[in-house]
Amino acid sequence: MGSLPPSLSSLLFLNLALILISVSPVISTSRQALDDHQDQLMKTGFKITMNNVDSGGSFTERLLRATKRSNRRLQHFNEIISKAKHPNFRSAVYPADGAYFMNFSIGTPPNSYYGIMDTGSDLIWTQCKPCFQCFSQPAPVFEPKQSSTYSNLSCSSNLCQDLESYCNDGCEYIYGYGGGTIIIGYLATETFTIGGVSLLNIGFGCTVFTYDGQGFGDGLVGLGRGPLSLISQLGEPKFSYCLTYWEGTKPSTLVVGPQPSVNSSSGVKTTPLLQNPFNPTFYYVSLEGITIGGTKLPINKTTFALNADGSGGVIVDSGTTFTFLELSAYILVREEFISQVQLPVVNASDSTGLDLCFKLPSDPFSVNIPSLVLQFEDALLDFPTENYIVANSSIACLAMVPSLGLSIFGNILQQNMLLLYDISKETLSFMSTECDKF
Ligand SMILES: *[C@@H]1O[C@H](CO)[C@@H](O)[C@H](O)[C@H]1NC(C)=O
Ligand SMILES: *[C@@H]1O[C@H](CO)[C@@H](O)[C@H](O)[C@H]1NC(C)=O
Ligand SMILES: *[C@@H]1O[C@H](CO)[C@@H](O)[C@H](O)[C@H]1NC(C)=O
Ligand SMILES: *[C@@H]1O[C@H](CO)[C@@H](O)[C@H](O)[C@H]1NC(C)=O
Ligand SMILES: *[C@@H]1O[C@H](CO)[C@@H](O)[C@H](O)[C@H]1NC(C)=O
Ligand SMILES: *[C@@H]1O[C@H](CO)[C@@H](O)[C@H](O)[C@H]1NC(C)=O
Repeated sequence: MGSLPPSLSSLLFLNLALILISVSPVISTSRQALDDHQDQLMKTGFKITMNNVDSGGSFTERLLRATKRSNRRLQHFNEIISKAKHPNFRSAVYPADGAYFMNFSIGTPPNSYYGIMDTGSDLIWTQCKPCFQCFSQPAPVFEPKQSSTYSNLSCSSNLCQDLESYCNDGCEYIYGYGGGTIIIGYLATETFTIGGVSLLNIGFGCTVFTYDGQGFGDGLVGLGRGPLSLISQLGEPKFSYCLTYWEGTKPSTLVVGPQPSVNSSSGVKTTPLLQNPFNPTFYYVSLEGITIGGTKLPINKTTFALNADGSGGVIVDSGTTFTFLELSAYILVREEFISQVQLPVVNASDSTGLDLCFKLPSDPFSVNIPSLVLQFEDALLDFPTENYIVANSSIACLAMVPSLGLSIFGNILQQNMLLLYDISKETLSFMSTECDKF
């Protein structure tokens, strides 16, 4: 049992719609819709009607459809890997609006941007001029004509083939994010500068049309495991990050390339990474059980399994705020918290987007919140209270919500842990760390 975190006074709630950006890229159009869309592009510039886009249903339903539909081959992209890229760098990562942001520069001379760091998607993108419909972003919109290192990617390029693209003039994409944002643009290559290191010929998306795009800063850096991500393009087998407290302002670090050596005697827990051929982007882990306040929940072994048809499973995602648990497990978690916390349950779902909230007594320090332990294959992780309970001075809510099929290990749950992804060994290591000091 732990007590509530002392940081209760700050208001910790955000609107769910605002913060469930960047869950996964969903290529949310059929071929026919793309053809229609392309006709429209040619006639009217980058204007689309939303009817063309299969954006119905809850975000979880969209994820499930995307998983089933995107029957992509798992392709390993090797050609762009070159020693000339010096792919070792460290970059600061900042929490904001339920996401984590990083600095990067594009072009020659370099233009500075500040976008979401997302392990749940692959494409790296920013908005480019001329922009047909763009959201307002903090930095000036990138102007390809002003950069000497810019070039468009042809349809025959490997990266273009890896993208589910529509090819005509250039390699065009439509990308959707859970939460309803849709971006349209074309692929190009540029020099990126991250953490002071120049990375040559990085394929990225020049976005020229957005629908509902607020909350992305100046764009996004995809760190997924698909071919278009920064990690895959660099061919770097290892990266790590450490997320600071989500409501704070202190930066932490993303490290790509050689890592500090970690081993079990330094408190490191390591679990295998799993792959889903139906969705090569995601980092899947196997979750085997949940223990709350010492009580192991009777969760069916099949609940979190990654199924042969690509459904189910548990992914680790820096771009999703809350943790999503498959409904049948969520129900058990909810019941267990209710029986152990012993405070009145209040329905605050409208204002918090969260399903389970408790009314706090006037002395919140007298409240006992049960411990949470997640049993991953070979790694038993227990979490600080602030990783799964968000609170203000009147209510405390479980930072977990139910989903159907796919479960997501969100970024609040990842706070103050070093997460080291070793893609060549297919492992993910966790080490409890004060990330603002890392
Ligand atoms: C990153 O960008 C933000 C916003 O532009 C800026 O305030 C911050 O100083 C930058 N950090 C670094 C390390 O360049
Ligand atoms: C790149 O492609 C876009 C879209 O087809 C086009 O508008 C732009 O002029 C091209 N830029 C260059 C430098 O070829
Ligand atoms: C493991 O880590 C500890 C603490 O960082 C260090 O003292 C020890 O030498 C390491 N052991 C191995 C085998 O690397
Ligand atoms: C676990 O779930 C599977 C599939 O839903 C079901 O067939 C099985 O009976 C369940 N097992 C238990 C012990 O509930
Ligand atoms: C909470 O309130 C919302 C609307 O205010 C309602 O839709 C929802 O069903 C309620 N939840 C519970 C568990 O009663
Ligand atoms: C705490 O958050 C709830 C839900 O957003 C809100 O109704 C309540 O007024 C907040 N309490 C304080 C003291 O800010």
